[in-house]
Amino acid sequence: MKATMKATWILPDGREIVAEVPEGRNLMEAALAAGVPGVIGECGGTLSCATCHVHVEGPWAEAAGKPGDFEDAMLDATEAERTQASRLSCQIEMSAALDGIVLRVPRV
Ligand code: FES
Repeated sequence: MKATMKATWILPDGREIVAEVPEGRNLMEAALAAGVPGVIGECGGTLSCATCHVHVEGPWAEAAGKPGDFEDAMLDATEAERTQASRLSCQIEMSAALDGIVLRVPRV
């Protein structure tokens, strides 16, 4: 059986949604499974829609890593403003290093 880790999404109104996420699942799919509003994942994680945009909370930024080149280009097409903390959550895969990660859903 695969291990699960915890992820928290903070919504623009301050509400929090916490979910157990299996190792290896990307955080866009995890958000959909947890019913997180504002994470849409229109392209199914193929890096062509930018509707899975989140801001990674400070302490987790390093563990989550930097966006790849193509993700970086796609981040210029997000609806909400891009910040230093912006990532496309379909490109972040849950792992032990990310257990407890906190993501903010930007206001659009
Ligand atoms: Fe489309 Fe992430 S789900 S870019």
